[in-house]
Formats: sequence, C-alpha cells, structure tokens
Amino acid sequence: MTRTAYDAVAHSYAELLRDELSHKPLDRRLLDTFADMVSAWGGTRVLDAGCGPGRVSEYLHGHGLTTVGIDVSATMIDIARRDYPALQFDVGSILDVNLAGGSVEGVVAWYSIIHTPPKLLTVVFAEFWRVLAPGGLLLLSFQVGDERVRIEHAYGHAVAYDVYRLSPEEISDKLCANGFQVEVRVLRAPTGSELQPQAYVVARK
Ligand SMILES: C[S@@+](CC[C@H](N)C(=O)[O-])C[C@H]1O[C@@H](n2cnc3c(N)ncnc32)[C@H](O)[C@@H]1O
Repeated sequence: MTRTAYDAVAHSYAELLRDELSHKPLDRRLLDTFADMVSAWGGTRVLDAGCGPGRVSEYLHGHGLTTVGIDVSATMIDIARRDYPALQFDVGSILDVNLAGGSVEGVVAWYSIIHTPPKLLTVVFAEFWRVLAPGGLLLLSFQVGDERVRIEHAYGHAVAYDVYRLSPEEISDKLCANGFQVEVRVLRAPTGSELQPQAYVVARK
C-alpha cells in the first residue's frame, strides 16, 4: 500500500519537496548537527533510511558524509539516482535492511518511520541498531500525535496509505528498550502547511 502510493506520487513529491529544507532553518540545523555529531567521532557512512527522492542524502553528502539511501518505492529510487547520480541508492525496506552489521556510523530516518505500524517499530529500531557501528547515531523525525490517519489525496494524486502520528516519549522509550541512549529530543510548532508539531530524536548505539 505505502509502496504503491509513493510510486504514484514520487515525481510530484520530488518536485514539491526539492527545496523544502531551504524554508526550514531548524530542520537544516538539526541535520547539520547530526552530521557534525557523526563526524565528531570519526564517522563517515550514513544510511538514509526511507530516502524518497534523495534530498536528505544529498544534504548530508554536502557535509562530507558518504550516504546510502534505501526506499521501498522503486520510482523514488529511480528519481534519486537520476537527480544525484554520484550517490548510492537502492530499493530496500527499513524492516529488513540489506546492509552488513556495524557498517554505518549514522542512520537518518527523515519522516520515514511514519508509515510503519507502531507495533512494528521495534523491528525497525532493531535493524537500525544492527547496521550501526557501536557509538553510531540515529536521527528520527516524525509528526507528533497518537492516531493513525488514512491519506486519500497527496501531492496532487488519489492514493491510499496510512500515516501514524507518534509520541516522542513513546518513541524514546522504544529506542531505549532496543538498547539506544536518547541524547537529543526536539519539539517544534507546525510551520507553513504543517498541521502537527514536529519531533526530532537523536539516539546513540
Ligand atoms: C514522507 S516520505 C520521506 C522521504 C524522504 N526521507 C524525504 O524526507 O524526502 C516517506 C518515505 O518512506 C518510504 N518508506 C515507507 N515505508 C518504508 C519501508 N518500510 N522501507 C523503506 N522505505 C519506506 C516511502 O516510500 C517514502 O519514500
């Protein structure tokens, strides 16, 4: 369901969000800080988990990091490869990441855990834990809330997929239960067309 929907909206999504970060100074600073935190202990390799059209990979690449982006939507991956041919992108799932254990020093999941039913997030976090080297950092972003929302129109297309609004406290608890240490939690008010507060969590393996 999610894959089909993102295949359908991929081109519109890529166009609409290509420059989105330039209007979101706090989001940029959080990505800057995450890149600095990864680099500070000698990390260079980052998994962009649920990378969509690759804009976050490209942003982190601009900070000197080596990225690999994965996404369940093959159309998103085609667009990412077209737009950022120097970067690595592969079709893949955050529920079963096709990377060796300990092979990256950072994982960013930028609004990509929001489609996974919350009871399955422990599987996702176990995968992020597995692929991270000891001391590696995870950055999550998501919309705050406690409901499942059925999306029927997105980016100018009729679609059918679910988005889960999430609690920063519950996500932090789940991360800790999966062995992570939560180092940063940021909550900001909605801006622009956003309707919910937005949350950002940085946790360390
Ligand atoms: C809101 S978009 C965010 C994309 C990108 N991180 C960005 O900020 O532009 C959510 C992305 O997560 C991907 N996604 C959803 N569930 C996934 C899963 N289980 N494994 C991999 N990607 C997934 C979707 O295909 C979509 O590209």
